[in-house]
Amino acid sequence: MSKPKKKYICNNCGSIGSKWAGQCFDCKEWDTIHEDVVEASAGFYTMNASSSPVEISSISGDAADKARVPTSMPELDRVLGGGLVAGSAILIGGDPGIGKSTLLLQLVIKLSMQDVSTLYITGEESVSQVQLRAKRLEVKSDKCQIASATNLRNIIATLDQCKSDVELVIIDSIQTMHVDDISSAPGTVSQIRSCAATLIEYGKKHDIAMVLVGHVTKDGQIAGPKVLEHMVDTVLYFEGDHNYHYRILRSIKNRFGQVNEMGVFEMTASGLREITNPSELFLFQRASNVSGSAVFCSLEGSRPMLVEIQALVAPSPIPTPRRSVVGWDPNRLSMILAVLAVRYGLNLASNEVYLSVAGGMKITEPAADLAVAAALISAASNKPLINGSAFFGEIGLSGEVRRVAQSQQRITEAAKLGFTQIISGEIGKETQCSGVDVNQIMHLKQLKDCL
Ligand code: TYD
Ligand code: MG
Repeated sequence: MSKPKKKYICNNCGSIGSKWAGQCFDCKEWDTIHEDVVEASAGFYTMNASSSPVEISSISGDAADKARVPTSMPELDRVLGGGLVAGSAILIGGDPGIGKSTLLLQLVIKLSMQDVSTLYITGEESVSQVQLRAKRLEVKSDKCQIASATNLRNIIATLDQCKSDVELVIIDSIQTMHVDDISSAPGTVSQIRSCAATLIEYGKKHDIAMVLVGHVTKDGQIAGPKVLEHMVDTVLYFEGDHNYHYRILRSIKNRFGQVNEMGVFEMTASGLREITNPSELFLFQRASNVSGSAVFCSLEGSRPMLVEIQALVAPSPIPTPRRSVVGWDPNRLSMILAVLAVRYGLNLASNEVYLSVAGGMKITEPAADLAVAAALISAASNKPLINGSAFFGEIGLSGEVRRVAQSQQRITEAAKLGFTQIISGEIGKETQCSGVDVNQIMHLKQLKDCL
């Protein structure tokens, strides 16, 4: 047997080199190159190249539709784009202890209650530990199949025995799995890539949906090469603040549905509970008549949701005042503060500024700009915003308020929750605003007249 060669692999893009370097030559990321052992066969993912081409119109659409299995967890279905697609590969990442294993165990139990044959393979816990966890859950089923294994050969052998009826396989987690013919340790780039490639190909060949659990690194990326995310059809992140009970499942990539879709769950003593109306939850403890609080009509994927943005402006005892942001982009806050100073005439350079999205939500949409500006103005003047008002709109560097997508859904959600006044950028003539008063503003200066 030839001696395996040492190679250097980039954890970010998966490129292979013969020398170590501080920066990857391909993706230019720093400190991502690690020594690894690469066998000739080690995991370059190849789809079935021999299949002969067919005309797209001749492919029956029914087959694809039939193959979608609703999971009986509406929040998960929403994120997946309507259910599990047979033969698809789903990668789910998230911090340790956030609830990935709990979510997937709940999923297999629910599906086995509907007579969908599933297999939960754990490489992190023993079967009895999984059983203990299953006992805590609200849902129970005797038909759920679990196995504890880390060797890919054993897993494939098990799947071979029951492939005719298994429709969903959970691999918890891909970092604990290993193949014999690669000598590097489980969790290394070549092991992860090889195991994932084999499992995904197996799933596609036998129409089994594969869910792979992926660990995340300390900066929140799924550990292992970025190619892992390219190989799968769907990438989901399960996130949340450990101090809160809410957990958010977000789709980052989805070949069978919309991205940035989100599902909301609550971790309870008996497993994860689905939250079907998150707006009510995020606004639940909102105090009225308090300065610095603004409601933002957000849109996560296709779901409109109202969230509270809180700001606090305090005198600073130090020459370089602190700025602290929870749940939003700190650079975006700096930009809004600069625009407020130059275009609106509110200079907070000598004040400390704290901004927080209530309930542990993370917002990435620029449409939150107007709500943030309103919260900051209200906090600085110590004057509460008008009761029943909600905001959305993107702010540009010249202080203009821009139109954002899906105004209709945002307005309808606000009206549904009893809000009476919306302050936003332009919303378009076709938007219906029954029950609410919509103030369209073109420039930040006009905000003065609405507060
Ligand atoms: P887990 O699913 O093991 O997380 P992950 O697989 O992402 O690492 O979640 C474990 C956490 O969830 C742990 O802190 C205990 C908590 N938990 C509950 O609060 N209620 C429950 O019913 C279960 C099963 C777990
Ligand atoms: Mg786990």
